[in-house]
Amino acid sequence: MFVEPSPACQVVFAGAPPAPGWLTHDDIEPGGPTVHRFRVSYPRVVAAVVTGALALGLVIGVSIPATAQVPSPTAAEPLVIAHRGASGYRPEHTLASYELAIRMGADAIEPDLVSTRDGVLVARHENEIGGTTDVASRPAFADRMTTKVVDGLTLTGWFTEDFTLAELKQLRAVERIPDIRPNNTIYDGRFAIPTLQQVIDLAQRFDVAIYPETKHPTYFDSIGLSLEEPLVRTLRANGLDRADSPVFVQSFETSNLRQLDRVIDVPLVQLIGGSGAPYDLVAAGSPLTYDDLTTPAGLRAIAAYADGIGPDKNRIVPRDSAGFLLPPTALVDDAHDRGLFVHPYTFRAENTFLPADFRVGSDPARYGDIAAEFELFFALGVDGVFTDQPDIAVYARRLATAAA
Ligand code: G3P
Ligand code: CA
Repeated sequence: MFVEPSPACQVVFAGAPPAPGWLTHDDIEPGGPTVHRFRVSYPRVVAAVVTGALALGLVIGVSIPATAQVPSPTAAEPLVIAHRGASGYRPEHTLASYELAIRMGADAIEPDLVSTRDGVLVARHENEIGGTTDVASRPAFADRMTTKVVDGLTLTGWFTEDFTLAELKQLRAVERIPDIRPNNTIYDGRFAIPTLQQVIDLAQRFDVAIYPETKHPTYFDSIGLSLEEPLVRTLRANGLDRADSPVFVQSFETSNLRQLDRVIDVPLVQLIGGSGAPYDLVAAGSPLTYDDLTTPAGLRAIAAYADGIGPDKNRIVPRDSAGFLLPPTALVDDAHDRGLFVHPYTFRAENTFLPADFRVGSDPARYGDIAAEFELFFALGVDGVFTDQPDIAVYARRLATAAA
């Protein structure tokens, strides 16, 4: 199956060789020279020009001047957050994926964090790693396959907490959704699982923000591998513990954000799922759900410990049962009224992820009009976007900014 690369991506690869200082793609380890600092200061986007500019065939493929922005509801320009790196183009949560995102102009790179057996934070979307690494093909680790209950779900596979860091480093990442992103599979087996420290080293080398998410914090507490202590320790050790540090810490749970608010000053982001409830509240027997967190009272409660929200984008523009967009909710304005910035997730270019309004053709892997989706959300006043294709977000933002 063929997946069209984005126009911007084509330009990136058709252009000059990477500038000195860019990393190469074999199990990247820190150590390269520093490149120049990027800076951004944009007016608020009203993106009505994007579609017209798209029709003119405008493309970009290089980083525009950019920097880690001060996280604030009054920030001038939507932040481009590279969701699991440039995961539309590389296996997710690898240094190659993060590095490409930086090259594409992302303001922040997003590592999801889980723990190893020896308490090291590493970048994986979940602690079960059968779907994103080659662990299943490693005879040495065949006996680690097991069944566990994580956040109420029974899972069979291989779990990071059963591996030391040295053991995890023997594994290599593979593409999570090869049917949708077959081109990414050419990188299967090439990249190691990075530690949080390696992600920080990369971000600091290129002066972008990090946007770490604690994954399954209640579960990791329950097995004696609490995520928050090593996270705070690592941020402090890297000088990333101030209110103006280029860091956002996010969680789908609430208790750990309240705990973090007491011990660290960096911006905190309450993630809000499209349905269900924070697992810490479920575990505590609370009836509160994510729906409750989006009410004015819920947002007021969030504002007591967090600086922003990261809602499922469908909570801002819902879809009907056929996948077509419905009128926007008041969530962005309600959050802003309580001083919270709004960073919705996840913007992905492939038809299968897009609202029906923006799909092109019937191939689920083909790109639809994601730039129009960015245009819609920028016009609604979001303060940032999590995206698998940061180049297209930068492109849409650049066009909208030029028109403002
Ligand atoms: O953290 C924002 C977004 O990444 C949440 O979804 O499941 O991809 O971590 P997920
Ligand atoms: Ca995440």
